[in-house]
Amino acid sequence: MSHDAIIKVNEAIAKDALVDKDKAAAMRAEAEKDPETFWAGVAARLDWSKPFTKVKDVSFDASDLHIRWFYDGELNACVNCLDRHLPEKANDVAIIWESDDPGVDKKITYAEAFEETCRMANVLKARGVKKGDRVVIYMPMIPEAAYAMLACARIGAVHSVVFGGFSPDALASRIEDCGASAVITADEGVRGGKTVPLKANVDKALEKAPDVRAVLVVERTRADIPMKAGRDLYWYAEARDDVSPECPAEAVNAEDTLFILYTSGSTGKPKGVLHTTGGYLAYAAYTYEMVFDYKPGEIYWCTADVGWVTGHSYIVYGPLANGATTLIFEGVPTYPDASRFWRVIEKHKVNIFYTAPTALRALMREGDDWVKKADRSSLRLLGSVGEPINPEAWMWYYEVVGDSKHPIVDTWWQTETGGILISPLPGATDLKPGSATQPLPGVFPAIVDANGNFLEGACEGNLVITDSWPGQMRTVYGDHQRFIDTYFKTYPGMYFTGDGVRRDADGYYWITGRVDDVINVSGHRMGTAEVEAAIDEHPLVVESAVVGFPHDVKGQGIYAYVTLHATDEPSEALEKEIVETVRQEIGPIAKPDHIHFTPGLPKTRSGKIMRRILRKIAENEFGALGDTSTLADPGVVDALIEGRKNR
Ligand code: WTA
Repeated sequence: MSHDAIIKVNEAIAKDALVDKDKAAAMRAEAEKDPETFWAGVAARLDWSKPFTKVKDVSFDASDLHIRWFYDGELNACVNCLDRHLPEKANDVAIIWESDDPGVDKKITYAEAFEETCRMANVLKARGVKKGDRVVIYMPMIPEAAYAMLACARIGAVHSVVFGGFSPDALASRIEDCGASAVITADEGVRGGKTVPLKANVDKALEKAPDVRAVLVVERTRADIPMKAGRDLYWYAEARDDVSPECPAEAVNAEDTLFILYTSGSTGKPKGVLHTTGGYLAYAAYTYEMVFDYKPGEIYWCTADVGWVTGHSYIVYGPLANGATTLIFEGVPTYPDASRFWRVIEKHKVNIFYTAPTALRALMREGDDWVKKADRSSLRLLGSVGEPINPEAWMWYYEVVGDSKHPIVDTWWQTETGGILISPLPGATDLKPGSATQPLPGVFPAIVDANGNFLEGACEGNLVITDSWPGQMRTVYGDHQRFIDTYFKTYPGMYFTGDGVRRDADGYYWITGRVDDVINVSGHRMGTAEVEAAIDEHPLVVESAVVGFPHDVKGQGIYAYVTLHATDEPSEALEKEIVETVRQEIGPIAKPDHIHFTPGLPKTRSGKIMRRILRKIAENEFGALGDTSTLADPGVVDALIEGRKNR
């Protein structure tokens, strides 16, 4: 099958799907004609302790920017994910936990998840955590991570989950930025047969962030770790059994903060993306059901980490708000071997599987046998997220993993958008390998040129969204001006995504990647400025410039140009030291793939680094450097090309 193929909606799937072509068309028409009625209908799927009467109050005008949805209503996110399923689903499985060790797993019912969450909420309360307080969660992929998020939501506290792969320094800066008073962690994490010293990392971070009063430590490995009296508390050994298994839920306003999640931007430190309760939850729940065509009783598995937005919306909130069974996987795709994903699907009879292109590309390299020897007959829907999926990986996913039977939903969205904005609907959308296809009903994307002019028909440009949807972020925590400047100044009156996009003659969207200084490494967002700041911490470095380059497995790799003090000689040892510095400052995911020592960087006469040139050189495209005449020292370019060729 060729890559520009169209895969028509399978009639058998359309027959059983929640949304077929007619329904999708009707929904689009309704959302366009009367957005407020449409979104009020979406939000009605939640339980509101005080029903909303106001739907939307939004201005994308930078001088008066505000976004509010359902803003006189009250609800509780935890109640919507757990309590309200109890009358009918108390004994249904809410969470399947598959440990790193393929021999160990666990099934947790809604009743059990409810009790554990209530207990954890009571422990937080006993340690002084109140409505509005921030709690940082730094956990491995264990069910207790979901309880921790829901426990915060239950008492109106704000969670900020920090990915367990971040270094103590990165953790400290997030704890400080959001002013957290408590941290929930584990003694150690386990991934791919190796342990991760989570509690030790927290201890290091708290040397820099001393305001944290309470650290709750979930026992995962029962490793012998130091505990600080008065501050640290073991969950199982010291806390869980001493509190009530019930905890009243705090009703919060729809616009009260549910969570803050840090993500990288093109400048400065990572920003705290803030999501509120009503709009976010309604949007996560709605998109989960629609895009994954979820039917009660099905087993759903998203392989993301709860430290990223995908884990928030499509491991925890979206599935649980729908009463689904969500699988939490602690391990990695290649441990103990490259058949792990497919073995987990076989073992737990997974129906809906959602993963990232980078994992698919890595597994594709290992050959088809790993896939074929596992029974995948339970599967019926496949999903992709986090970065553009190249048509080769798409076809492999479709043909080998899915036996050419199941639709693939390539879902485009962002931490900022809270949920999926562009994606096929499995019973309604014809597929094209590599295209995220079309916006969901109620979502209005547009394509603009560099000057903000709307482009029509088939075209390529920058992706903007012209009107709000309930899952949209509300602000950058502690820095509303940065929110306005980052997203609403480039193209006045519109939300700018930072992504480039092509639209074909059928109106299908093809995301081409970031157009700002953000790089996407294995589906993880990294700001080039952030990596540069980390490299510059090395005492021998004068300055650095980081760009992305195409990488077969990771999508993009990190290429760093580094200038040393004149007296210092480049060496392999120094290269290693610099990589190590980045690991310490941010974490292993930010480690550069290449360090290119250079006596100078290409700068304009006003001192601005010309990254366009650096990108081309990193890509080995020396013919397409464009105009270099404005450089202060055009000779730098020849030296850089020479350096690249010799690598
Ligand atoms: C990229 C992850 C192409 C995009 C949910 C976006 C994608 C950034 C896709 C957000 C996709 C995400 N196709 N590109 N299906 N999904 N992206 O905040 O560049 O970690 O801006 O959210 O990932 O990354 P984030």
